[in-house]
Amino acid sequence: MSGADKDVPTQDELEQMSNDELVKLGTNLDGVEIIHRSERYPEPGSKVEKRAERQVAIWFTVSGISAIACFIIFIWNHWEFALPGSADYWRYTLNTPLLGITFGLSVLSIGIALVLITKKFLPAEIAVQDRHDGGSSELDKKTIVAELVDSGTTSTLGRRKMLIGSAVFGLGAFAFTGLIAFVGGLIKNPWAEGDNSPLWHSGWSTLPGQPKETVYLRRDTGDPWRVALVRPEDLDAGAMETVFPWRVSDGYGADEHSRHKLLEGLRQVRNPVMLIRLRPEDAKNAVKRRGQESFNYGDYFAYTKVCSHLGCPTSLYEQRTNRILCPCHQSQFDALQYAKPVFGPAARALAQLPITVNNEGYLVAAGDFIEPVGPAFWERRS
Ligand code: FES
Repeated sequence: MSGADKDVPTQDELEQMSNDELVKLGTNLDGVEIIHRSERYPEPGSKVEKRAERQVAIWFTVSGISAIACFIIFIWNHWEFALPGSADYWRYTLNTPLLGITFGLSVLSIGIALVLITKKFLPAEIAVQDRHDGGSSELDKKTIVAELVDSGTTSTLGRRKMLIGSAVFGLGAFAFTGLIAFVGGLIKNPWAEGDNSPLWHSGWSTLPGQPKETVYLRRDTGDPWRVALVRPEDLDAGAMETVFPWRVSDGYGADEHSRHKLLEGLRQVRNPVMLIRLRPEDAKNAVKRRGQESFNYGDYFAYTKVCSHLGCPTSLYEQRTNRILCPCHQSQFDALQYAKPVFGPAARALAQLPITVNNEGYLVAAGDFIEPVGPAFWERRS
């Protein structure tokens, strides 16, 4: 039966009632029968009580330390591609796992501390309650607040300074680190490097002031120093291959400068491209985007691998349906319609790279992307 159906006190009577009386009234009205209730620590200040308090404080402290460690790693380290065996390999490779471990430990410690509080400080209680239908009356709402206040009071948390201090430290550090993880990525000033800012370019373009050079499509050989270029006859109809930019001046990894350039081409976030060779019967019906009608070369279409939703690699190409799939949140893009999204959370088409074939017979870039690559960059530049 709902509280509204019972004999209820007037507003004036309610205002006069103490918290204990409101709690009792609330439990009665709500059809709750308390079978058993006992304080956790009848003797305040006992050893058991102090030990329980220390346990909770330790977990809040572990949470705070983990959150601060996460913050320090976030600020002083970052992820970059590094070859196995290189000096910074472990520093970069461990960056993401360490962020996950420290942040996860912080959340877990808070969870353990809260469970311990419930088990060790709230009064031990066995209660039985009837279920009732419909929404709660004003009276029910008021009495439930009183019951919550009562729980807070009888848990004795309010007078436990060590516990409150550690909770403030743990929860505060956790909240701060959680916030910085979201805001930190926005700190970089996109205008700081002027026209040369990597925000405006991918490795497929020539930066202003640099000599013009042909940018070839380089296959993913799995070996940074083994350069293999793509000719149109290399791909079967319906095939997909990941390609990266390569210039003659990048060399073949014979010296330090060349190795740096080759790695740069492979690791720049905007560089990976899916080269798709549509089946001829599909290519005939391909819909091209306005202003990008010449971006394909015959049956060959090149789209960025960076998903326009949150930047995961859209590595899956289903030949039968001509769909490009992003494994992160299941966005699907139609390769027959300029890779526009047809399913999932992505809202923009994958940027298309203009390609052609040079007089040596290799597939080369005919320019840079003209659309933002990856998650919507908040300002396009025209
Ligand atoms: S990142 Fe691709 S669907 Fe979310």
